[in-house]
This record gives sequence, structure tokens and C-alpha cells, in this order.
Amino acid sequence: TWTMANFIETELASIREKVGTGKVLCALSGGVDSAVVAVLIHKAIGDQLHCVFVNNGLLRKGEADKVVNLFTKHFKINLAHVDAADRFLGMLEGVSDPEQKRKIIGNEFIYLFEEEAKKLGQVDYLAQGTLYPDVIESVSTKGPSAVIKSHHNVGGLPEKMNLKLLEPVRELFKDEVRLLGKELGMPDEVVYRQPFPGPGLAIRCIGELSAEKLDILRDADAIVIEEIRKAGLYREIWQSFAVLLPVKTVGVMGDARTYEWTVALRAVNSLDGMTADWVKLPYELLGSISSRIINEVKGVNRVVYDISQKPPATIEWE
Ligand code: XMP
Repeated sequence: TWTMANFIETELASIREKVGTGKVLCALSGGVDSAVVAVLIHKAIGDQLHCVFVNNGLLRKGEADKVVNLFTKHFKINLAHVDAADRFLGMLEGVSDPEQKRKIIGNEFIYLFEEEAKKLGQVDYLAQGTLYPDVIESVSTKGPSAVIKSHHNVGGLPEKMNLKLLEPVRELFKDEVRLLGKELGMPDEVVYRQPFPGPGLAIRCIGELSAEKLDILRDADAIVIEEIRKAGLYREIWQSFAVLLPVKTVGVMGDARTYEWTVALRAVNSLDGMTADWVKLPYELLGSISSRIINEVKGVNRVVYDISQKPPATIEWE
């Protein structure tokens, strides 16, 4: 019979046998899949695993520190932390097209990841958090007729760097990866994290980016997540987040006129991200999110709620 404990034992043995005395490289994104894969492989081969975490400055509030702390302090995993926030922001300066943003962020990530990998000398395997649905999708013949949004990953990297792939969860579904994470002693905050796009806040800050706008968005987003958690809804919702619109509107504070940015809230339920419906959040919750953002985040005087389905709207605004 299949049990998680058996799965772990089998996988540990198989990883050890495959890797031997070799080195394994793993990119951590902060997401569930890569995190679980790293902890599993570390359990099998310890310091032969080398993780790389690129902070692109487009993560949510406190996220970079959390990832670094969890992996280095708690799990004692080898981790190279590349702090490239300024670099990414510089590359994205003046860019407003969503696909252009994705391209720049994806290419820059690969470049920095390779630079870091070079420092390790000979590496034998690249670990990836490929799941069963990804496996099915890539062998199926039906593909999307047009690219709606290009989801970047490290696709061409293994061949380019002459690496073999190590994909220990390629037979698992998402919920099984979460169970595996729990079994490996990972915190709920990581295991039950909502999906977050690779280009991060760059595609939630509509139009041209700036450090100031990203800070506003990060603060607003932290309030959304905090209030949704407080209401006990975080795990039930597929994705919930703030979007910063490039729209200033007139408001009033005391007897003074304000002219400030608009934040849109997005909360959707979905089974696979392909279709989605907006969540009927309680009015009280919408109210507390709105007043907290307007009161606590300087530069925002208006909050609106996105009530569009996918299709035709997509989950992300860019
Ligand atoms: P859309 O916006 O296309 O999103 O309805 C569907 C799901 O994909 C995520 N998403 C991305 N993930 N890189 C990613 O890794 C991307 O460029 C990207 N764009 C969208 C989105 O968050 C949702 O879960």
C-alpha cells in the first residue's frame, strides 16, 4: 500500500543511489514545490545539495527573509542568497509591457542563477519541483493555440549546463506535495502558501515600476493577506492579493484634497488556474481590508474589488 512514509523512504534511497557522491543544484523560489523538493533532497544527501535563492525585489513583504531563515537556520541547507533587487529594478526601468517584464525577469534570473552555479564547480544534477500535472501537460499533444502569458521557468538550463534532472515529486499532485512537506516538518506557512507568479509583484504593479510603487503594493498586499488569514479564509482561497493601478484619483482627508493611487483587490477560487471565479468575500472583510489599506498605506486613497471571472479576465492583471 502507498503511504507517505513509504514514499519518503523509497525516494531517499533512490536519490542517494542516483546522485552518489555528486552535487545537486536547486533554485528556491519561495514556492511550495521547490521548497519541499529541497528539504527532501537535503534529507537524502545533506551538504551535497546546494540551493540558490535569487531575491529579485519583487517578492511579498518579509518573504525573502523568511525563505533564507527557514532554509539556513532551521533546515541548515547550503544556500546562496543573491540579493539582486536593485539590479532587477534597474533592468525594468521604463518597461510597462507585461510580456516584456516577464522576459526581462526570466532572463535575468537565469543569468544570475548560472553565475552562482559556476561558483560551485562541477554540478551533476538540477533539482526541480516538477509535479504530475506538469508531466502530463508536457507530453499531451494539445497545446494552447496562442501564448496568453509566457510562464517562465528554467527550461533550457539543464542542457545548457549539461545537467541531469532530479525530479523526486514528479509522480505527486499538489495536495500530496503539501502532505509530504508536512511530513518533512515544514511550517504551514510554506506548505499551504497560495500560488505566486514567478515575475512576482512586477505584474501586479500595472505599467511602469518604481521602488516607491513596489513598496506601496507590498504594504497593501501584506494587509490583504493578514486580514484574509485573520478571517480564516487563506487556505480556502486559491489566490488573494493586491494590485496597484496606475490611476490617481481625488480624495479628501480632514479638509484637504488628496490625489493618490488606487489599489484593486483580487481574490479568486480555481482548481487549476485555467478558469477562476471571484470569491464572494464577506462585506465586513472587504471593509476592513479597504480601511486598513487607506489608513495605513501612504499614497493610496481608494480601494476597489475585482469581480471578473476567468475567462475572459485572467487572474493576474498583466
Ligand atoms: P492568469 O493570470 O494567466 O494566471 O490567469 C493563471 C495562474 O498562473 C499564474 N501566473 C504566472 N505564474 N509566471 C508564473 O510562474 C508567470 O509569468 C505567471 N503569470 C500568471 C497566476 O498567478 C495564476 O496562478
